[in-house]
Amino acid sequence: MTDSSTPISAAPTVVDLAGVTKEYPGGVAALRGVDLTVGAGELLAIVGPSGSGKSTLLHIIGTLDRPTAGSVAIAGHDIATLTDRSLSALRARHIGFVFQAFHLVPGISARDNVAEGLLYSGLPRAERRRRAAYALERVGLADRMRHRPHELSGGQKQRVAIARAVVGEPDLLLADEPTGALDSESGEAVMALLHDLNAEGATIAVITHDTEIAERLPRQVRIRDGQIVADTRGAEAAA
Ligand SMILES: Nc1ncnc2c1ncn2[C@@H]1O[C@H](COP(=O)(O)OP(=O)(O)OP(=O)(O)O)[C@@H](O)[C@H]1O
Ligand SMILES: [Mg+2]
Repeated sequence: MTDSSTPISAAPTVVDLAGVTKEYPGGVAALRGVDLTVGAGELLAIVGPSGSGKSTLLHIIGTLDRPTAGSVAIAGHDIATLTDRSLSALRARHIGFVFQAFHLVPGISARDNVAEGLLYSGLPRAERRRRAAYALERVGLADRMRHRPHELSGGQKQRVAIARAVVGEPDLLLADEPTGALDSESGEAVMALLHDLNAEGATIAVITHDTEIAERLPRQVRIRDGQIVADTRGAEAAA
């Protein structure tokens, strides 16, 4: 079944990777035989040293990139059977992505950057902008809506990127170091927002270098040299 209008959260397994390998041109094997299953409603941390393959893994889960070998199923859709067009539709409806490097559009306001996250939603522009304003409020940037990216600090840009990822209320939210450029107070606020979204039903995977943040999430997937070396649950319950 390839009806991408089916809510991802209705599927018991949101992410199912089997034997996933990713080789970049030039011969770097960024992922080597990764098996990973994520159930609906999970909140997990992906941790590991720089260059271990975390961003590559998140891009593959987010269907932004295809594996060299192995299979990827998102909400039961085997992505190998989907055209780039249906993949974009699946992404637009169900997946929110916070990029490590923000990827904000230069020259347009924070509010319009966030509204971009709803471009393929079918909502009228005024409604996209209304929701964008609300998402910016949620990340504490109500007073920076009109600022363009070059008029924002690094941490503020990061929060705009988060607002853009969550504005469409995605079923699956993937965040690459969402607290990396933030002071601890703003980082806490972002993590509280992710917890709220998770409580509302979103499945969330967060890459983080911050072991304190990772340990407070219900599941930690540890990656090293392109392989998953540990997958632990229940730290939160034990804490
Ligand atoms: N487009 C690319 N072409 C070639 N090699 C790449 C490309 N992107 C990443 N790599 C290599 O793949 C490996 C994994 O990169 P990746 O970005 O997934 O690491 P990471 O765990 O996210 O690191 P960091 O914590 O520094 O962000 C690295 O050795 C990197 O140099
Ligand atoms: Mg990375």
